[in-house]
Amino acid sequence: MAIFIQHCKELLTPLFPGNGKIQRLKNASLIIEDNLISWVGSDHDCPSPEPGDQVIDGTNQILTPGLIDSHTHLVFAGDRSGEFIQRTQGATYQQISASGGGIASTVTKTREASAYDLLRTARPRVNRWMEQGVTTLEIKSGYGLTTESELKLLRVIRQLKKEVPIDISATFLGAHDIPAEFKENRTDYIQKIITEMIPAVSAENLAEAVDVFCETGVYSISESRLILESALHHKLKIKVHADELSALGGASLAAQLNGLSADHLLCITDQGINDLTNSETVAILLPGTAWFLKMPYAPARKLLDSGICVALATDFNPGSCTIDQFSFILMLAALYMNMTPDEILSAVTVNAAKALDRETETGKLAPGYRADLVLWNAPSWEHIIYHPTHNHAGKVFASGKLIYQSEIWNECLFL
Ligand code: NIG
Ligand code: FE
Repeated sequence: MAIFIQHCKELLTPLFPGNGKIQRLKNASLIIEDNLISWVGSDHDCPSPEPGDQVIDGTNQILTPGLIDSHTHLVFAGDRSGEFIQRTQGATYQQISASGGGIASTVTKTREASAYDLLRTARPRVNRWMEQGVTTLEIKSGYGLTTESELKLLRVIRQLKKEVPIDISATFLGAHDIPAEFKENRTDYIQKIITEMIPAVSAENLAEAVDVFCETGVYSISESRLILESALHHKLKIKVHADELSALGGASLAAQLNGLSADHLLCITDQGINDLTNSETVAILLPGTAWFLKMPYAPARKLLDSGICVALATDFNPGSCTIDQFSFILMLAALYMNMTPDEILSAVTVNAAKALDRETETGKLAPGYRADLVLWNAPSWEHIIYHPTHNHAGKVFASGKLIYQSEIWNECLFL
């Protein structure tokens, strides 16, 4: 039985990762067979449904690929609202970390939490992403920082993957911080990551990639390199939290090691931009973090104008960005990073797919691609960016399966 989605007001899809170009087709149809897209085109060229096929009327709706959030830390325990209030009174994120708060405080709570409790709290978060049209979601570990508790987090992510109908990509981030008990002998912790954690993650096939928080006071360039080379040795892909709070050179490191992505880049230098330009590494920008930390935004225009493949993601986590509304991230990208609507759509579909090594599977509406798509109850893609505080997702399909639907049209607020 095929599913026909017909008479869409507009269908929007990127064609290739990279340049932010979007193909727009008015009065469009799309056919899903099994879990794949089998046909895309104009209403008047659309083959006729056969008896037994399902027909969905997309009149007045917008059709796009399912969204991809390529950077989250959404499995953790506890909240850090106290630190947030300290920041409103002048303390900086780095000062709070240096005095034992920050990531360390979430680590304490997460170590104490059972796998069951972590799963119980993460599950509704994933539902929230699905309801907003997210059909591929990356989740990092990184709040355990012992072999046992990092494996606990990754097994929770594996369990989420089994329970939910969307695609989840797990990343091992044991190098998220130096745990308090290793502050005086950090090289021992790095050795533990290399000789114990990465081999265990690889043996249980618990992650696709390894990430490092390459930052002044956290992991230096040479320490990050050691960890990432060990990941490559174990056939894991690599990602880097790069040039987030200071210009350490993480973007260049990611490019040199052929990483899937260099993430954050608030402080990227011209050298970093140059190195990314000459690489296949995707720049994942996280404007919610800049907003939440009151920092200058990543130089998105410079990156885009240099031809770098740019993705946008939430970075959802308890310390540097609690925004769980993807469309709000899109508004920040438009308002403060001067990205166009087409660049924004590419950044949360095909470019994000590339950052997760999935660009041949998902991220665009074309025959043979996974049927991950969203029919929006909105008059245009631009409207979703402009009015982000409401959820405009009308029907969300993941691998050809309807996973969420809503009849609510918030657009009426604007009539
Ligand atoms: O992406 N930079 C490191 N990790 C997170 C912050 C995590 C936290 O504060 O808990 C980030 O900003
Ligand atoms: Fe992050």
